[in-house]
This record gives sequence, C-alpha cells and structure tokens, in this order.
Amino acid sequence: MKYALIGCGRISPNHIEAAKNNGLDIVALCDVVPSAVDEKAERFQLEQVHKYTDYRQMLAAEKPELVAIATESGKHAAIALDCIDAGCHVIIEKPIALSIKDADAIIKAGREKGVVVCANHQNRFNKSVSYIRKALEEGRFGKLSHGAAHVRWNRGKGYYEQAPWRGTWAQDGGCLMNQCIHNIDLLRWMMGDDVVEVMAYTDQIEHPYLEAEDLGLAIIRFANGSYGLVEGTTNVYPKNLEETLYIFGQNGTVKAGGTSDNIIEAWSFADNKDDPEQVMQTYSENPPNVYGYGHTPLYADVIKAIVDHRDPYVTAQDGKNALELVLAIYKSAAEHRPVSLPLEECSTLDFVGLFDNKD
Ligand SMILES: NC(=O)c1ccc[n+]([C@@H]2O[C@H](COP(=O)([O-])OP(=O)(O)OC[C@H]3O[C@@H](n4cnc5c(N)ncnc54)[C@H](O)[C@@H]3O)[C@@H](O)[C@H]2O)c1
Repeated sequence: MKYALIGCGRISPNHIEAAKNNGLDIVALCDVVPSAVDEKAERFQLEQVHKYTDYRQMLAAEKPELVAIATESGKHAAIALDCIDAGCHVIIEKPIALSIKDADAIIKAGREKGVVVCANHQNRFNKSVSYIRKALEEGRFGKLSHGAAHVRWNRGKGYYEQAPWRGTWAQDGGCLMNQCIHNIDLLRWMMGDDVVEVMAYTDQIEHPYLEAEDLGLAIIRFANGSYGLVEGTTNVYPKNLEETLYIFGQNGTVKAGGTSDNIIEAWSFADNKDDPEQVMQTYSENPPNVYGYGHTPLYADVIKAIVDHRDPYVTAQDGKNALELVLAIYKSAAEHRPVSLPLEECSTLDFVGLFDNKD
C-alpha cells in the first residue's frame, strides 16, 4: 500500500516507524522545510523515497493510498480535506482539527468519498488501556461512578522555542488541546462518550510567552449519570510526573499510570475474574517516551480497515469528540459558566486574547 507522510517534525519518527513496521510502501515524505525531509529519509534509510515541499504536488504525482498528517494542528483540517478530496485514506494527528466546523467537514468529506479517516489517538492501543476497555465492555465495572484524567507534565521554554506554533490559538491551543487531549479522549470514551455539561477553569501560570493555557481543571457530567475530572498541566516541576486515568464503578476500580497511561497500577473487581498482580504485570509497559508504542497498532488497524472496508478503531468522530470536550472546557473557563454539549460551533480562535491582560 502506497503511503506518504506530510509533516516531518518531532512526532514524524513514530509515523515512519509505524509505516515500516506495517510493511507500507513509503513513497513520499513532505515538509515545507526540506532539511526535515532529508533528515528523516537518511535516519530511516529511505533511499528511494520521493521528497516534496508541496503536499498538493505530492498527492498529484504519487497518488498515495494512505497519507498521515503530522503538521502543526491548525493545518490538519485543510490538508486532510485536500487528501480526502484526492481519494486518500488519512491518519490525522491529534487534535483532528481546531474547530467543530472543520471536524464536521472532515467527517462529512470522509463519508462522501468513502475513505478511512483515523484520528491519531494512539493511547487507545496501549496494552493497559485495551485491557481496561475490555473490562468496561464486559460490564465488569457495573454502574460507573466517576473517572479522572490527570496529565502532570513539564514543558519548558526550549520546547516552545523549537516550534513557535505551539501554545498559539491559531495553530495549537494550550496544554489541554496539545498534551492532554489523549487522556481527555480516553476519559470521554471510557465514561460513555455522551457528555451533558462541563464546568472548568483554565489559567496561564508558568508560561507567559504562550497565548494559551498551561493549566486546566474541569468537571464533566455524562449522560449516564457518571462524572469526569480533568487536571491537565505542563507546569509540573522539574519533569513529567505522570499521566493517569482512573475509572471507578460500583464493582471495579482501575488506575492506569506511568507517564502516559501505560502501567496498570490498581486493578480491583468484585468478580475476581483475573488476578490483579498478574494483570498489572501483563498489561503494563514502560515506553521510552510519552508517545508510547501505539502508532504501530493504530496503523495496523487502519490498514485492516482499508482492506476490510470498515471504520477504523479510532474514527474521525472520536477525534471530534475529544476536540469538542477540550473546546467546551475552554468555553466554560472563558465564560465562567457551565457549558452544555453538543457544541454547535466553537474554535480555538474564539479564545484569542484570553490571557493577554494577565498580571
Ligand atoms: N500523537 C502524539 O502523541 C503526538 C505527539 C506530538 C505531536 N503530535 C501532534 O503532531 C502534530 C505535529 O507535532 P510536532 O511536535 O511533530 O510538530 P513539529 O513542529 O515538530 O513538526 C511539524 C512539521 O510540519 C511541517 N509542516 C508545516 N506545514 C506543512 C505543510 N503545509 N506541508 C508539509 N509540512 C508542513 C513543519 O515544517 C514541521 O516540520 C501536531 O498536531 C501535534 O499535536 C502528536
């Protein structure tokens, strides 16, 4: 299957590795910065790969079947729509877009063209997360009480200086939209997708050189009567501490921890169907960085979805759900009031200037 990657920056090695691990034919790499393409081609020994700075030219010349989009977030939607229009299946890095309107346009275009559109929430494929999801689908938690998603990470000035788009409203958003969206996706997915209302605070405490937030605190009410708690920040001194997901139900308690929900740290179920010690050992991993091992199984699923003409495990709608919840948190914090879902229209651009007059 002919594959191309658009955007050869920090996350691109995970995509190239996933493409290689799945036996894709990597025909082209594209980046507006030619040295970014050269560096990745050399590092991954892609001697035959065709190099582009213009993705439209690349689409026309190479006609790839599957394209991954790993540019800055504010460009995802326009590039995805062009790829879908060219008949390509797409994997779109998170967040799928920065507005509800753009996410809806991607979902609609994918459906009309009959192509697979996957939102790159790779943590859904963590061994730990998959096993928690299985327990949930088997009804082992009973009635859900609440869930909590904490992302307690550190991002310093150097990280933002590497790529000035980060932390801007037009291209990124803050810690919730960038660093925490994986866990927000998992929380929403696990607790039942259907959100009624959100109340939140966001603030900018340690990163005055950004436009967006570096701390977000939110309470979510789900339609099934359960609740969710989000605590996301890039202010933790001096390095990433943890990314944890807790699910509490009538008959079960689970905690996935580590730096990116990779380690099962608590596992208790009334049904005693499995041995907690063994579960914690078998379904825990210690990846070298917070991106984890999820890109390869996500790619495997997308390839299978293309071959089998089915939806991918993580759909464009899933990508919209995570985006919508982050935008609802932003809106609640900005307007100092509870916000009901679904959001008709909302964009990160609605929050331009939010922290400009902070002392
Ligand atoms: N899934 C994850 O865990 C994960 C981790 C990190 C980043 N991301 C997401 O991946 C995306 C990229 O993040 P990054 O940290 O790699 O950013 P980056 O700035 O390091 O890389 C982005 C690259 O895209 C290139 N680019 C910009 N416009 C382009 C265009 N029109 N055509 C081709 N290339 C273009 C830039 O030159 C740059 O090299 C973001 O949306 C981010 O949220 C996801």
